[in-house]
Amino acid sequence: MALIRDRNINVLIDAETLAARNDALADEIVQSGADNLLVIAVLKGSFIFAADLVRSLHKSGMSPEIEFITLSSYGTDTKSSGTVRIVRDIESDVAGRNVLLIDDILESGRTISFAKDLMMGRGAASAQIAVLLDKTGKRTADIVADYVGFECPDYFVVGYGMDVAHAYRELPFVGVVAEEE
Ligand code: IMP
Ligand code: MG
Repeated sequence: MALIRDRNINVLIDAETLAARNDALADEIVQSGADNLLVIAVLKGSFIFAADLVRSLHKSGMSPEIEFITLSSYGTDTKSSGTVRIVRDIESDVAGRNVLLIDDILESGRTISFAKDLMMGRGAASAQIAVLLDKTGKRTADIVADYVGFECPDYFVVGYGMDVAHAYRELPFVGVVAEEE
């Protein structure tokens, strides 16, 4: 347990475990045979995971190109009626490219479904999905990630790029904010 910004954060996945898993994921991605890969990090939550995973891909012998898209999902009245919008788009042409979308958490699946449909609609040859955490119990969209770092229990997690109200992204581990006493 670490005390950060006056809140207790329980470590769920430590830095060492994250690093080892990234290397293993990179090996899986290389073994899938994807060639001429265009990695697209879905911001903001994936920024640290993507930064680490592309360096693991390099260690595994890959030379991906890297792009960034910022997506935002907002609910209307209920969670399931939420819709995704593009806050900032990629600059590259994805036509004919093998795309690897990287996101932090797969929850309802709406965000990553939107991103995949967008890239396939623009003519990508393929669009695979890598997520650090998978909350399988929360899925509403019909989507499966090709690469999953860890199954995630239904906690609200922070750190390693992920936030609650813009806080905690800088933590080098995935943690859970402890309940107030
Ligand atoms: P989906 O569209 O429901 O799959 O939403 C996934 C997105 O919700 C992730 O990319 C995160 O930005 C956010 N999210 C879901 N669960 C958490 C969490 O526990 N902590 C921080 N962000 C989360
Ligand atoms: Mg996100």
